[in-house]
Amino acid sequence: MKNIKKIACIGAGYVGGPTMAVVAQHCPHIQVTIVDLNEARIAAWNDENLDNLPVYEPGLDAVVAEARGRNLFFSTDITKAIDEADMIFISVNTPTKTYGKGKGQAADLKYIELCARQIAAVSTTDKIVVEKSTLPVRTAAALKSILNNTGNGVKFDILSNPEFLAEGTAVTDLQNPDRVLIGGEDAEAIQALVNVYANWVPADRILTTNLWSSELSKLVANAFLAQRVSSINAISELCEKTEANVDEVSHAIGMDSRIGSKFLKASVGFGGSCFQKDILNLVYIARSYGLTAVADYWEQVIIMNDHQKSRFAQKIIHTMYNTVNGKKIAFLGWAFKKDTNDTRESAAIYVADHLLDEEAEIVIYDPKVTEDQVYKDLDYLATRSPEANRRLVTVVNTPTEAILDAHAIAILTEWDEFKAYDWQAIKVQMKKPSFVFDGRKLLNSKEMRSLGFDYYAIGE
Ligand code: NAD
Ligand code: UGA
Repeated sequence: MKNIKKIACIGAGYVGGPTMAVVAQHCPHIQVTIVDLNEARIAAWNDENLDNLPVYEPGLDAVVAEARGRNLFFSTDITKAIDEADMIFISVNTPTKTYGKGKGQAADLKYIELCARQIAAVSTTDKIVVEKSTLPVRTAAALKSILNNTGNGVKFDILSNPEFLAEGTAVTDLQNPDRVLIGGEDAEAIQALVNVYANWVPADRILTTNLWSSELSKLVANAFLAQRVSSINAISELCEKTEANVDEVSHAIGMDSRIGSKFLKASVGFGGSCFQKDILNLVYIARSYGLTAVADYWEQVIIMNDHQKSRFAQKIIHTMYNTVNGKKIAFLGWAFKKDTNDTRESAAIYVADHLLDEEAEIVIYDPKVTEDQVYKDLDYLATRSPEANRRLVTVVNTPTEAILDAHAIAILTEWDEFKAYDWQAIKVQMKKPSFVFDGRKLLNSKEMRSLGFDYYAIGE
């Protein structure tokens, strides 16, 4: 049985960093080295000041503080880490393709392939290669082909071990996972990885399957979760027409144990780097097998989500007398959910884009997102010039600056601190009438209306 002494992880991002930090914390007998091409990112992981870690996750600083320098290392020396390791996790990004065949749908596997080629080129001893990134079903077949055609006599075993952590709760999800999924063909390789997790995960939560079930289950898990959000968001629009309240509907249906209460919070739309990307990928795979009905079914989850984002922006414009030109709209929140600094595919970006088309002046406050990131997100859409984005959008460090003289406030992220604000005092600072558009249904509507706000919440 292979005894794992050294692990390398390629990719020090939102998954590689926290996942491997928790492995290192629970396995002091294993040396864990996380490598990345991005020098600035590695420098930030090595920063003495734990506030400067590149990923913000509650509790992550303590885990890094415990293991870093003991058996957890961050490095740009990819070759060395690969060569020394018994087990290599691939945790690089797998974005949606922006060119060529499958553009806008298929996963771009160029980073994965580069990793495989580098592993093949530098390995001098047998390795277990673990797919940690989310990949299209049957990617392991391509990895196997690249790795096994090097002719250097090294034996490679490939495992699929998708990650199910959610951002904002990554550390608790990793410490106490609902399940760990390991797919593979070689029993010894599977057992070697089971043994790593067994250091802290109860045996009955470590599932082993064949490679293809494991790869596909990751895409399916994200598709099912996103589908729940789109389903309740569809109902939120119906609630707005019928005087039903979407929170009450969620609660009522969620008490049915067959439906369950989680993931039924209506919102301005789901964001994050993965839901959309993974469903598009599922749709692409289904279409590539000629399964049109399957593809169309899942694509509807994305269509509904896009509708929800644009509907929210239209609601703002329509309510403010059909013009937001030159009006100051304060955005509370830019991250795609609370407790993270990640803004990838955040609904806020798309809502802002709609309002900027109408020449609104947007002032953004988010407790964890930087000015630089906001401009990057808007510039990436390429809807207007970078100069126009900077002319119309301001990013501030305090909510007070955002709110002063605003015509409207839009809540885009459900940060806890927004609930604790003195809304009575905020009302005084705003222009009249004072509009609040609550895209997270975060505040108490009765209270907000009694304070004199023109208050609108999703699904009410
Ligand atoms: P990320 O962009 O934060 O991190 C990926 C890192 O890989 C980057 O720092 C990049 O520089 C590095 N990289 C790319 N190619 C490289 C190479 N050839 N050599 C060395 N480093 C390289 O991405 P992420 O959010 O950590 O996601 C990684 C994967 O995990 C994706 O497939 C994603 O779908 C999946 N996933 C993400 C989450 C999440 O919450 N973010 C959760 C579960 C699964
Ligand atoms: C999601 C999954 O929950 C993870 O299991 C998975 O590992 C991860 O994707 C991934 O593969 O990247 P994440 O995107 O980090 O995690 O966060 P979620 O909590 O799932 O939220 C996703 C989006 O849905 C957020 O914008 C959130 O605000 C929204 N959401 C979630 C709702 O609008 N309503 C809900 O009830 C739940």
